[in-house]
Amino acid sequence: MKRTLMSAAIVASTLATSAQVASAAESLSVLHWWTSGGESKAIRVLKDDMDKQGYEWKDFAVAGGAGAAAMTALKTQVMSGNAPSAAQIKGPLIQDWADQGVLVDIDKSATDWKAQLPAQINKTMMSKGHYVAAPFSVHRINWLWINKAALDKVGGKPPTTWPEFFALADKFRAAGITPVARGGQPWQDMTIWETVVLSQGADFYRKAMIDLDQKTLTSPQMLQVFQTARKIQGYFDKGSTGRDWNLATAMVINGSGGMQFMGDWAKGEFANANKKADVDYICAAAPGTSNAFTYTVDSFVFFQQNGKKEATLGQLALAKTIMSPAFQEQFSLYKGSIPVRQDVSMDKFDACAKKSYADEQTTIKSNTFFPSFAFGDVQSSATEGAITDVVTGFMNSNEDPQEAMRKVAAAAKVK
Ligand code: GAL
Repeated sequence: MKRTLMSAAIVASTLATSAQVASAAESLSVLHWWTSGGESKAIRVLKDDMDKQGYEWKDFAVAGGAGAAAMTALKTQVMSGNAPSAAQIKGPLIQDWADQGVLVDIDKSATDWKAQLPAQINKTMMSKGHYVAAPFSVHRINWLWINKAALDKVGGKPPTTWPEFFALADKFRAAGITPVARGGQPWQDMTIWETVVLSQGADFYRKAMIDLDQKTLTSPQMLQVFQTARKIQGYFDKGSTGRDWNLATAMVINGSGGMQFMGDWAKGEFANANKKADVDYICAAAPGTSNAFTYTVDSFVFFQQNGKKEATLGQLALAKTIMSPAFQEQFSLYKGSIPVRQDVSMDKFDACAKKSYADEQTTIKSNTFFPSFAFGDVQSSATEGAITDVVTGFMNSNEDPQEAMRKVAAAAKVK
């Protein structure tokens, strides 16, 4: 009897000790895909902030741009009962996870979010009237990045139309510079293709990528999209298959590549290499897209821990920190994005970010501020995956544009 009590006391005191330790330093396991130079620097700001607040950060970074590998890892973790405290998820997937009943709400940390977020982004952060995701920043997708020295060398200027773009690409080629630094992964092909869709006009993008309108998807304009994409393909280098996005950006940084179509996390790489906007590189809206803005918004969702339906103190602190003005500013300065909070000053930002911010404000008003299809901000992952498969197949072959168009229209019906 005595011995049992004794061991119970030992167990109790061990529990007390571990409880004290836990309350002193709740650990937060965080799954994300930010592993490039600029990305790591940006996420470290959050880690350091949480460290300062007394939380232990357990980093679960899964390499792979745009997060395909991270999403697979997340499913495995959740299914094996090891859901992380927070995970990087965006778009309609947020609501999908919420519908599984595995997330916690973070309403307590979201007191001023409605007033501070653009309406359509605010809606994406919620499920059934509750905040379940915390947004980091706004990345613009429809950018073209150009090496400034290479541009000067060939006497070119940033192209605003496709004919200008192809003329510049020819000049780069003649000068021995790879015209289009392309990373050859499905989501990167999709980035180029989606940008060409946008260049056909804001209405066209809305009907094609948001409404998935069959008539638009099989129109002569859509055929033109495929023909333009085919022409762009002719300016890739042989080594582009499978290349990571940041290695393609590195080509534009070192001048072996002239241009890259990429979201503005590319700017995080330029910044990390101490390159300056307008001095070392140019950011320009991709040809024909200056009046529109395709965006992706990164966010963290929060998983139930130890079967509890309420957010832990650490999860609430994490959500609050992500949306704090100071964090929003520093994160985007490193990441290449702009703050998603509307009350953060743009004073410390460079010309590209200022342009992005100005265009964000204008396009919100003109209703041409669009969620990106390529980054999962608008359709289900099934639809996104089906269309991406067709587009990347097209960009890696010499498939007939008409045939690829027919396949995209069919893929758009996948729910
Ligand atoms: C996107 C994400 C960006 C950037 C990019 C490349 O999905 O929104 O923040 O990380 O992938 O990894």
